[in-house]
Amino acid sequence: MRRPLVAGNWKMNGSLESVRSLLDGIKAGVGAVTNAEVAVCPTAIFIPEAQQRLSGTEIAWGGQDLSTETSGAYTGEVAASMLNDFACKYVIVGHSERRTYHNESDDLVAKKFATARAAGLAPILCVGETLEERESGVTNEVVARQLNAVIELEGVAALADGVIAYEPVWAIGTGKTATPEQAQEVHAFIRSLVAEKSAEVAEGVRILYGGSMKPGNAKELIGKADIDGGLIGGASLAAEDFLGICTAAN
Ligand code: 13P
Repeated sequence: MRRPLVAGNWKMNGSLESVRSLLDGIKAGVGAVTNAEVAVCPTAIFIPEAQQRLSGTEIAWGGQDLSTETSGAYTGEVAASMLNDFACKYVIVGHSERRTYHNESDDLVAKKFATARAAGLAPILCVGETLEERESGVTNEVVARQLNAVIELEGVAALADGVIAYEPVWAIGTGKTATPEQAQEVHAFIRSLVAEKSAEVAEGVRILYGGSMKPGNAKELIGKADIDGGLIGGASLAAEDFLGICTAAN
């Protein structure tokens, strides 16, 4: 039985003040509403706030990206050891916004996955197709390529140390959610790809859905057999909405 995971990807949002009140709001509400695992990924500079406010609770926190380097002259980057210094459990790798705006390749994302894993962080590997790719019928091909880059570098067993997030690019921040059936189809495909290499890893690995998930559609999505939770952008920025999704994940 896979325990659902609801993770908030706060992206580059919030102020010190709003982040504090969001953390407090989630902390105050979450215990009463969900059995799912809950995590938040603030922008790097607010990770210490998450640690300070969430330590001793069941809520985990993590980063949105990491460097493949351990230290040195890499302006603007964050190392795995630094995420560990602030007790992160998770780190997102290969988000489509990183792939698009920072030209992150499948190979680089696979290296980030490996770097996170080697440091004891649980990588949340994002995969997903653009609208153009979906319309030209290559969704499975794209997702397989993104996933296989990690499997080729690290071996299938490595996936057991992380989480996969299927995030159709056309559904991110657009208000257009994949239907539960559309999402389930790709989730099942991802699980079958993993199962070709290891039935055990396929059975255990959590595959989250991301892309305009809200309290109103979360239950139906997470109710699908291969959807094990959500990676939430916009709706994770308001405690009430995020808690609504956490409730739906029960
Ligand atoms: P939205 O929930 O805002 O569509 O973002 C999803 C996402 O990109 C999570 O990583």
